[in-house]
Amino acid sequence: MERKLDKSYTSSIKFDKRLYVQDIKGSKVHAEMLGNQGILTIEESGLICDGLEQIRLEINKGMFEFSEKFEDIHMNIENALFEKIGPLAGKLHTGRSRNDQIALDLRIFVKESVHEIWEGLLGLRTSILNKAEENIEIYLPGYTHLQRGQPVSLGHHLMAYYEMFKRDCIRFTRVYESADVMPLGSGALSGTSYELDRKWVANELGFKSLSVNSMDAVSDRDFLMDFHSASAICAVHISRLCEEIVIWSSEEFGFTQLDSDFTTGSSMMPQKRNPDFAEIGRGKSGRVFGNLVAMLTILKGLPLTYNRDLQEDKEPLFDTVDTISSTLAVMSSMLKSISFNEDKMRSAIDNSNSLATDIADYLVRKGMPFREAHRVVSNLTDYVIETKQNIHELSLEKYKLFSQLFESDVTNITIENSINSRNVFGGTALKNVKSSIKTAKQNLKKEARNGIKD
Ligand code: ARG
Repeated sequence: MERKLDKSYTSSIKFDKRLYVQDIKGSKVHAEMLGNQGILTIEESGLICDGLEQIRLEINKGMFEFSEKFEDIHMNIENALFEKIGPLAGKLHTGRSRNDQIALDLRIFVKESVHEIWEGLLGLRTSILNKAEENIEIYLPGYTHLQRGQPVSLGHHLMAYYEMFKRDCIRFTRVYESADVMPLGSGALSGTSYELDRKWVANELGFKSLSVNSMDAVSDRDFLMDFHSASAICAVHISRLCEEIVIWSSEEFGFTQLDSDFTTGSSMMPQKRNPDFAEIGRGKSGRVFGNLVAMLTILKGLPLTYNRDLQEDKEPLFDTVDTISSTLAVMSSMLKSISFNEDKMRSAIDNSNSLATDIADYLVRKGMPFREAHRVVSNLTDYVIETKQNIHELSLEKYKLFSQLFESDVTNITIENSINSRNVFGGTALKNVKSSIKTAKQNLKKEARNGIKD
C-alpha cells in the first residue's frame, strides 16, 4: 500500500507558533508602510492591521486554532486574515516573502529574549554582589588543582563569578547588536521592485540599521550563532558555579549550607540533602552546548540563499532561551539564600599549609632568592606533613633548622596578614575586595539604568 506523505514532517507550526507576536508586529508595520507608500490604499492597510490585531488577541486568549494544513506561523496567520477580511488578505504579502519575514521575526524574537536574559544576568550579579559583600571577612583556602593553595576572602572568591557574569552581559549586548538589523525588503532573495520604505519600517520596529545585501539577509543566521555562543559560554559559567556549590555542600567540604528549597532528600537514604538544583543547573549546560552545535551544523553546508533547513533553527533557539532564562532565575535565588560555614572554611586553612607561599615570601624579603626560598619551604612542608603538625604551629627553633634567616617575626605570618598583604590591584586584600565591590555596585546601577542598548 502506498504511504501517504506526512505533512506534519515539513510543517513547523507546532513550534513556530511561538513567534506569533513578532510575526503580527512585523506584518502590521509592513501593511502600514504599504499604505503610506500608496502601494495599498490607506483603507486597505487599515483593514489589514485591524484584522491582524484581532488575530493577535484571539491567539492571546487561546481562542485560535493553529493548523498543520497551513505549514507555518506565517501561513496560519495569513489564512486567518483571509477568513476575516477576504481576498484583501492576499495584499499583505506585497513586496514581501516568507524568507525575509521569518528573518525579521527571528531577529525581533532574539532581541526580546536577549533583553530578558540580560535582565536575568543583572539579577544574578546582584545576588552574587550582595553575598560577596556579606562575606568579605570570611576566609577560606583558594584552590588550584582542587588542592588548598592560599587563603582568600570569600568575598573575593564570589566576586570572581561576578566578573564572569559581567562578561556575559557584554557578550549578550553584542548579540543584541548582531540581531539589530532589519531584513524586510529583501524579498525572496533579490530585493523587491515595490517602493518600500525600509527605513521607516526599521524605525517603527526599533531596528538600528538595514540589511545591505538581500541574498545575505534572507539566509544570514549569524545572530543565532552569536546567541548560541554567548549562551554556551554563559552556561559554562553557570555550570562552574554549580559545580563549586555541589563540592562545597558535600560532607567532605561542608563549606555551604543550601536552603532546603534547593535540596531534595533521597527516597532511600533519609540523611541525604542533595543539591539537585545546582546539579541540574550544571547539567543544563549540555543541552545549551548541543543547541550551539546543532545551529552550526544546520548552517555549515548551506549555499545562498534561503534553504528550508533553516526551519530547524527554531527549536534549539527556543530551548536555549528557556533554559538560560530559567537557570539564571534559579541561580539568583539559590545564591540569595545560600549560607556559609565559616568554621569549616577557617579550619580548612588551618589544617593545610596554605601559608607556605607567605613563608617563602618572608625569606625573600630577608634576601633569599625566591627559588631557594621555595625549596626551603617545600622541605619545611614535607617535615610538618611527616610529623603531623601545622606550619603555623612550629617554634622558631624548628624554623631555624631550615633556614637561619627565620626570626621571631615569622609568627606575624597569619591568615589575616597573608590576605591583607595581597594588596596589588585585583588581589584579595580586604581593602581591595571592598573597593571592587563598591565599584561593581556603582557600575551595576549604571548598567541597569542605561539598559542593554548602551
Ligand atoms: N517557515 C519557514 C522557516 O521557518 C519560513 C518560510 C520559508 N519557506 C519557504 N518555503 N520559502 O524558515
